[in-house]
Amino acid sequence: MSKSNGADHAAKNGQPAHPEVLPATGKLGILIPGLGAVATTLIAGVFAVRKGISQPFGSLTQMGHIRLGKRTDNREPKIKDFVPLTELSDIVFGGWDLYEDNMFEAASHAKVLEAGLLHSVKEELEAIKPMKAVFDRSYVTNLDGKNVKTGATKWDLAQQVVADIQEFKRVHKVDRVVVLWCGSTEKYIEAVDVHQTIESFEQGMKDNHSLIAPSMIYAYAALSQGIPFVNGAPNLTCDIPAMVALSKATHAPIAGKDFKTGQTLMKTILAPGLQARALGVRGWFSTNILGNRDGYVLDHPDNFRTKEVSKLGVLEDILRPDLHPELYGDLYHKIRINYYPPHGDNKESWDNIDIFGWLGYTMQIKINFLCRDSILAAPVALDLALFADLAKRAGMSGIQEWLSFYLKSPQTAPGLHADNDIFRQLIKLQNTLRHIMGEDLITHLGLDYYQEFAEIL
Ligand SMILES: NC(=O)c1ccc[n+]([C@@H]2O[C@H](COP(=O)([O-])OP(=O)(O)OC[C@H]3O[C@@H](n4cnc5c(N)ncnc54)[C@H](O)[C@@H]3O)[C@@H](O)[C@H]2O)c1
Repeated sequence: MSKSNGADHAAKNGQPAHPEVLPATGKLGILIPGLGAVATTLIAGVFAVRKGISQPFGSLTQMGHIRLGKRTDNREPKIKDFVPLTELSDIVFGGWDLYEDNMFEAASHAKVLEAGLLHSVKEELEAIKPMKAVFDRSYVTNLDGKNVKTGATKWDLAQQVVADIQEFKRVHKVDRVVVLWCGSTEKYIEAVDVHQTIESFEQGMKDNHSLIAPSMIYAYAALSQGIPFVNGAPNLTCDIPAMVALSKATHAPIAGKDFKTGQTLMKTILAPGLQARALGVRGWFSTNILGNRDGYVLDHPDNFRTKEVSKLGVLEDILRPDLHPELYGDLYHKIRINYYPPHGDNKESWDNIDIFGWLGYTMQIKINFLCRDSILAAPVALDLALFADLAKRAGMSGIQEWLSFYLKSPQTAPGLHADNDIFRQLIKLQNTLRHIMGEDLITHLGLDYYQEFAEIL
């Protein structure tokens, strides 16, 4: 494959030179706090793909292509053949949970994957047993497991997680690790003084500060060792100044928050189209029913609040009522999630969207999405883990906004509003991969394909 001189191109356009990327040699450990529906669907799925039983549909790293150079160059390799990603066969999974079930039992309990598929990877799944969790019931009232660490302070618990990671690396002969939070949604909290600096956070752990959540303890343990941390839930976790500072200091990438699946995925596909065509939106009512453990946790108002905040921001960021008050200034946006056990992991969502067009004439859009929550989340989790590891090997640290493609409530630099338009997020992701590999960035201008313009330019 021919490759343009990206470094020269970058210098020409005032962009930073592309980084040197270390190869993906050896094994990658993906360590997961929260081995429930998403995690087990991810793990069983990777084992099934490795055995050639299934295909990794929904995963950009495994299935997606990327265009390089001009359209006339006809260079569109698979992403995994373009950037040096860890092979699925080189991944070793592990993690923590407050329930003792091994991965076969947990996956059977989650009822996402059919028994036949699970039995075909039973041995591999049974071999993975959860390490003891850092858990505090005041953050997830609806759960109560026994596989939980004890320690005098939160600092002690963080040191135990550090030791777990070291031991995992040693036992499994793992070269690199990514920590991927797939644990339950914790209760809603906001950043306060203790979250502002590394020093205040460390002191807070030693003082057992009540606003240091379990997810933060895992994040601290990972980041303090320079290990990338990804947050698949809407918890505050690594979206606080102390964690951002720590990730910069130890050269660890971070990304969050909340896997973008289901209803919010649909929202960020549809809303940019309405906005692009200057169609007004008067109301957007979204309701969901789901019956898995996630739904049970979200049945508690404190935990629902965390999810609600994560889901609500999306429309405002895309539609920008501040720029278009006449189109979106009166938008009424409502979100409901109801626990409904008969549906299990098969979440059903309804959206009623009241829109208006030319001269204010009204129209309605109805969406009824019968989705499978963890089937949508598993490839997102896989891609995030593989890309976070790539970012680490490319010397990137701190907030990885290019991964916001996968996230409902993307973490951004202070003062920067999140870009939730999935199409712009994809362009950002693809251009970041081109940048990492020293390829020309693609602006989609395309005037140079037309002779008369090419002569002027
Ligand atoms: N499924 C989706 O499509 C989707 C989409 C976006 C976000 N999420 C989020 O991902 C997370 C996982 O979803 P799920 O459907 O797998 O839920 P789940 O309830 O099946 O699994 C979560 C697991 O985390 C464990 N857990 C809770 N607190 C923990 C702690 N402190 N340490 C270790 N383990 C802990 C629970 O025991 C449980 O086994 C949730 O926060 C959910 O909101 C899921």
